[in-house]
Amino acid sequence: MSFKRGVALLLIFFTGLLAWQHGSAQVIQNLWSRTEITLLESLSLTRLPVVPNDPSNQYQQNAAAITLGQKFFYDPRFSGDEGVSCATCHMPSNNYVDNLALAEGRGVGTRKSLSVIGAAYSQWLFWDGRADSLWAQALGPLENPIEHAGTRAQYANVVRQLYAKDYEAIFGKLPSESIWAKLPKRAGPTGNATERAAWEKLSYAERDVINRIFVNIGKAIAAFETKLKPGTSRFDLYIDNLRKTNPPSTLNVDEIVGLKLFIGKASCITCHTGPRFTDDQFHNTGVPTPQKLEADEGRQRAVRALIQSEFGCWSPYSDSSSNCGLISGNTNAAQAPAGAFKTPSLRNVANHYPYMHAGQFLSLADVVSHYNAAPKAVVGSSQLKPLALTQLEQKQLVAFLESLSAPVSASANLLETPVLPQ
Ligand code: HEC
Ligand code: HEC
Repeated sequence: MSFKRGVALLLIFFTGLLAWQHGSAQVIQNLWSRTEITLLESLSLTRLPVVPNDPSNQYQQNAAAITLGQKFFYDPRFSGDEGVSCATCHMPSNNYVDNLALAEGRGVGTRKSLSVIGAAYSQWLFWDGRADSLWAQALGPLENPIEHAGTRAQYANVVRQLYAKDYEAIFGKLPSESIWAKLPKRAGPTGNATERAAWEKLSYAERDVINRIFVNIGKAIAAFETKLKPGTSRFDLYIDNLRKTNPPSTLNVDEIVGLKLFIGKASCITCHTGPRFTDDQFHNTGVPTPQKLEADEGRQRAVRALIQSEFGCWSPYSDSSSNCGLISGNTNAAQAPAGAFKTPSLRNVANHYPYMHAGQFLSLADVVSHYNAAPKAVVGSSQLKPLALTQLEQKQLVAFLESLSAPVSASANLLETPVLPQ
């Protein structure tokens, strides 16, 4: 080879490298096939539809309910000892998670908290989907003895004493003082022995008075949560630029190769699909049971609970049963395999450590190593197959996952921290 030719080749090599670093159109065209580009575009945040209407909550789009729901979300007086709010575990300044393996309220639970960002898109809530609406989900922690640990009668009283005006403007008149006078201050089906006994003594009509207010607390909170959406990440900018000529690259080489693995060799996209990176379905991925915890059956047990749920989508407390998941049947709910959990969104995943339903893995490297090995499941059988990724490929996959972070995009007219009534 002549000296001149050598120099020319070197030049081509370096220009190529530069073009790669800057993600020029030329290189991108060579890097991704048309089919891949279409697939990549399906992951962009620009493809996130508007939040689906939830007919079971007629207040979902009500501006006053959204503002009130945000206050309820932050207010610790909605708890047994007035010390726990939704924001205790779903920390607004921390992508609405707490980074604990097992969530802690009045006690320690058996699952990791999920972020509430984008939860309004999910038909099934919780890791096992045991709630079929966002409003019914909110009622769970409020009465859970290891979370807010209070009772619905107490919460109805908080509304009456602190939020009466705002509440009545949205949901209509609260019961008269003579009715309140007859109702216990603390009573509910999951309270302590005294609180449960007080609940048992109430007539159906009296329970209904309390239940309506309790349910409306959930509906206002759900309206607020509907406004929390993932923000645009470096990954989205990369995708949105793909078809432009000479686009700036917002991802580096490792992240791009990681993305290629994500949609290709590692087949993560089978389950982590769409703009939220989740199919909202339930899968067994053979995640180990943590020490000191019993094996978790996941979805299968939840389906049984859902059918009997007091605040299910078809209950008298729902505003419409026309779109109920179990009835509309457009999910694999009933057929979910044993040991299956909901595919979580991967938006902001770098900040969602520790990972999996009980925080089994400390880092994203541990998660990827799990997928690579695809061990046998403790409950049921795992849907994963070993991936044979090299150490470098595993690192690149992690690098890509880390590019999915961005600040939450909340509705402009919500305050960062709401002012609570005194
Ligand atoms: C003690 C900590 C704690 C408190 C307090 C708490 N949560 Fe959670 N949250 C969790 C945990 C843990 C999970 C997952 C539990 C499971 O799947 O079994 C979760 C799940 C959720 C989900 C499901 C997200 C999804 O994608 O399925 C939503 C929504 C949510 N919480 C909202 C709320 C609201 C609203 C409140 C207040 C009324 C609240 N949480 C109070 C810990 C908490
Ligand atoms: C068969 C469906 C499926 C495939 C394929 C899959 N996942 Fe998952 N993913 C899940 C489910 C289900 C969970 C929750 C499992 C649990 O907690 O028991 C999960 C959890 C995760 C988590 C934890 C998120 C958190 O907040 O705790 C990460 C990270 C993750 N997956 C990344 C990946 C990557 C990277 C790949 C490809 C190597 C992949 N997944 C392939 C279904 C899948």
